[in-house]
Amino acid sequence: MSGSGPNRSRGDAGAGPEFSRRRSVIAALAGAIGALLVGASMWPVWRFISPEKRRGAKGTVSIPREKIAQGGAYFFHFQGHPAVLLQPVPGQFVALSAVCTHLGCIVTWRPQQKILFCPCHGGRFSETGQVLGGPPPAPLPRYAVSAGDREIVVREEKA
Ligand code: FES
Repeated sequence: MSGSGPNRSRGDAGAGPEFSRRRSVIAALAGAIGALLVGASMWPVWRFISPEKRRGAKGTVSIPREKIAQGGAYFFHFQGHPAVLLQPVPGQFVALSAVCTHLGCIVTWRPQQKILFCPCHGGRFSETGQVLGGPPPAPLPRYAVSAGDREIVVREEKA
């Protein structure tokens, strides 16, 4: 005995326009909540399929100088892609794409060896992005860098 029968018709009959308005408000709220839930659930999918340039697609990136120690590496995103800033010698900075030129894995920094290492197939790059070994067919793309007193600015132009 669910919604049909004498009980239902009795309840509907006395409601009139007030009942209809309440149903409309409830339907609108349900629709809004549904749209929000669909939007929230689709957001990760959109982030995954949207072009990387939409995220952090700026022509320059400023990195505080204290983030990059001599002999160290600082990974960041540049134009939506992983990049790395190195300081091979004091005061000299090198910014490179951190995307391996073989099949696109992200390189890691090995400070003891002073190389960028690709964990996927063992590609090795020098501190200036030159291929030292493994399957990568080309050097890591290099970006222009200017060093200020407080920050390092990585620019869109390739160096
Ligand atoms: S993806 Fe880097 S060596 Fe293959």
